[in-house]
Amino acid sequence: MARKKIIAGNWKMNMTPSEAVELINTLKPLVKTEDADVVFCVPAIDIIPALEAVKGTNIEIGAENMYYEEKGAYTGEISPAMLTDVGVKYVIIGHSERREYFAETDETVNKKVLKAFEHGITPIVCCGETLTQREQGVTMDFIRQQVKIAFLGVTADQAKTAVIAYEPIWAIGTGKTATTEQAQEVCGGIRRCIAEIYDEATAEAIRIQYGGSVNAKTAPELFVQPDIDGGLVGGAALKPDFGQIVNWK
Ligand code: PGA
Repeated sequence: MARKKIIAGNWKMNMTPSEAVELINTLKPLVKTEDADVVFCVPAIDIIPALEAVKGTNIEIGAENMYYEEKGAYTGEISPAMLTDVGVKYVIIGHSERREYFAETDETVNKKVLKAFEHGITPIVCCGETLTQREQGVTMDFIRQQVKIAFLGVTADQAKTAVIAYEPIWAIGTGKTATTEQAQEVCGGIRRCIAEIYDEATAEAIRIQYGGSVNAKTAPELFVQPDIDGGLVGGAALKPDFGQIVNWK
């Protein structure tokens, strides 16, 4: 069975709640499609107004992060139940910016992934190498380690519903998209890694996105690749271009 594409915007730390509603109203008619799942991952404070603004559309709202404990003395964190209570279905876990600026590790990523599944939230699990690692020829070794640790303790049935976002760090926000060959090679490698951890059926079911300077021009050539099931889009998700990316065909 063909995998349905999933195209997600990662808004990062952009858009106040009122700007978020305005942007959603602009994008709403542009991102209509039945061919792909469309997700807007927005800052925590934008989630509630965003959910209200997307009512009656094909847009799902996701979070950009969450904590791995249920509740308690974790000042500043958002719990999984807070997300599910308002209807959040997706959460980005382990984005490279969180790993770099907020000390996330493969271990905390794993805890968050397990917790997301426990609450029925679909994790968009991020992985990706630095430019140095690419130049050293260790890209796939590094990503296999990230993926293997992120999925420790995750069942095959859970993994089948997960989303992995391959985002080479050197391509994020730099305008430097990986070539289609580079992106396909790593996404294919991730799928083989999932087949090794689980089985072919799980590898066939899991959705793998490419992220890193995806734009309206590069999206079509990336999304036709056999192992690329959509994109995680930063900068271009804040512009009408996102409509073209979603309707890339
Ligand atoms: P970008 O960001 O599209 O602006 O490169 C992608 C991401 O970080 O998810």
